[in-house]
This record gives sequence, structure tokens and C-alpha cells, in this order.
Amino acid sequence: MRRTTKSLDEIFKSIASMPSYPCKICGAKYKTKEKIFICSDCQEKHEKRVEEARRRAEMVEYLLSICNIPRRYKNAIFQPTTEIQKKVAQYYIDNFFKKPLEEATDMLLFGAIGTGKTYLSCAFALELIRKRVIGVKYITEYELLNLYFQKEYIEFKSFKLSSVLIVDEIGKRELAEWQRVQLEELLSYRFNEMLPTIYITNLTEKRFKDFLGDRLADRLREANIARFAFVGESLRGI
Ligand SMILES: Nc1ncnc2c1ncn2[C@@H]1O[C@H](COP(=O)(O)OP(=O)(O)OP(=O)(O)O)[C@@H](O)[C@H]1O
Ligand SMILES: [Mg+2]
Ligand SMILES: [Zn+2]
Repeated sequence: MRRTTKSLDEIFKSIASMPSYPCKICGAKYKTKEKIFICSDCQEKHEKRVEEARRRAEMVEYLLSICNIPRRYKNAIFQPTTEIQKKVAQYYIDNFFKKPLEEATDMLLFGAIGTGKTYLSCAFALELIRKRVIGVKYITEYELLNLYFQKEYIEFKSFKLSSVLIVDEIGKRELAEWQRVQLEELLSYRFNEMLPTIYITNLTEKRFKDFLGDRLADRLREANIARFAFVGESLRGI
């Protein structure tokens, strides 16, 4: 018993006589033989950060793989060129980067062909996925309704539930009754669940409202949809 106490004493003494060195990261001093070392707290924090970064990167990859952005726009760079694009780009940033997602308003981009509505929106969707890890999905109205027609209900639902949804090429053709019902139901659901939707169309604002019908148009008005008119020459082939 006495012998143990003595050897413990010796151990304590030898520890006390050891030099102390600061942890390379936090600077806290520890008694150690190594002059350069990382303390166990910092090591643990570092491993956690590495793991979080790995999970984040995995999530971003996953969201990119399901966003449905067409190949033509997969490498779109969020760099507005025209005045209207600059205005919309600023709104995109304020609407989706500077406040919680549930406070984001719906947006309507309408007007002339080839003015960069799809390009800018896809470029922004890619930013939102990469920088905020938010699920954004892109689809044309035709493709969306075709999913329903093909009985791809799970896929159809994944667009209905997407955190942010871009519906492009709205109103290219008249809708059959079942199409109107499905589109209205999907958009009403998103409106009620406060899931932001971005509407893109070549129709004028007035024709877009007529196309949607009174009920939806009225809801969008209530939701303070932000409207942007694209005018000017087509940017295609410049
Ligand atoms: N900010 C930009 N930077 C680089 N290229 C751009 C930009 N905006 C538009 N473009 C180019 O202009 C082309 C037309 O843009 P986009 O397809 O987005 O037009 P749109 O308004 O969606 O037209 P439509 O109404 O016919 O669908 C794009 O394919 C792209 O090459
Ligand atoms: Mg387009
Ligand atoms: Zn440390």
C-alpha cells in the first residue's frame, strides 16, 4: 500500500517536472513530451468539422443530381449582363440569401424570348444549392404535367414538395381540364405551405394571369409575388 502511494508520488513528480507546451491550435498549455502537438479537444473539433464538410458536400452533390436543370444550363454562371438581369439577380440574393426561406416571396419572370430568364434562374439555383444547401428544382410546365400523365406520381410529388421550385415555359399552349386541375392543385399546395415558386413565361403579365385563372392569380397577388418584365433583343448567338 505504502509502496503504491510512493510510486504515485513519483509519477506526479515526474509529470510536474515535465515541460508544458501550447496546443498548436488553441494555445492552451499541456504537459507533454511533444513540442508541437494538437490537444484532444481541438483534435475532436477538427474531426467534427471534417465530417460536417463531408456530409455537406455529399448533400450538395445529391441536390445537384436531382435538380433537373437542363444540360445547357448546368454550367450557367450567376453573372447578370443586362439591366433587368441585374435587377432580378439582386432580388434573388435578397429574397433567398438574406432571410429565412419561409419569408421568401414568389417571383414571376416574364417577357421577350432569349433575354436570359432561364439562364439567370438556373445559375441562381446552382448558387443556392452550393452555397445554402437548399433543394431547388427546375422543370418546364410541359415536363411537369407530362410526369403526371405518365403516372410518375412520386417524381411529380418531388417537384410539388421541393423547397424552391422553378416552373419554366408556362402557358405555351392551352391546358386540358385535367392539366389545369393538376397545375392548380400543385401551385395551391405550394402557396399554402409557403414554399417559394419562381414562374417563368413568355406571356405578358395580363395573359399570364388569364392563363392561371382567377383563383391562382388572386392568390399570387395576395402573396405579393415579385414581377419582372424582360424586354429587349434576344441574347442568343451574341
Ligand atoms: N447572364 C448571362 N451570361 C451568359 N450568357 C447568358 C446570360 N444570359 C443569357 N445568356 C445567353 O443567352 C441565351 C438565352 O438565354 P435564356 O435561354 O435564359 O433565355 P430565355 O429568356 O429563357 O428565353 P425563352 O423565353 O426563349 O425561354 C442563353 O443560352 C445564354 O447563352
Ligand atoms: Mg427560357
Ligand atoms: Zn487545442
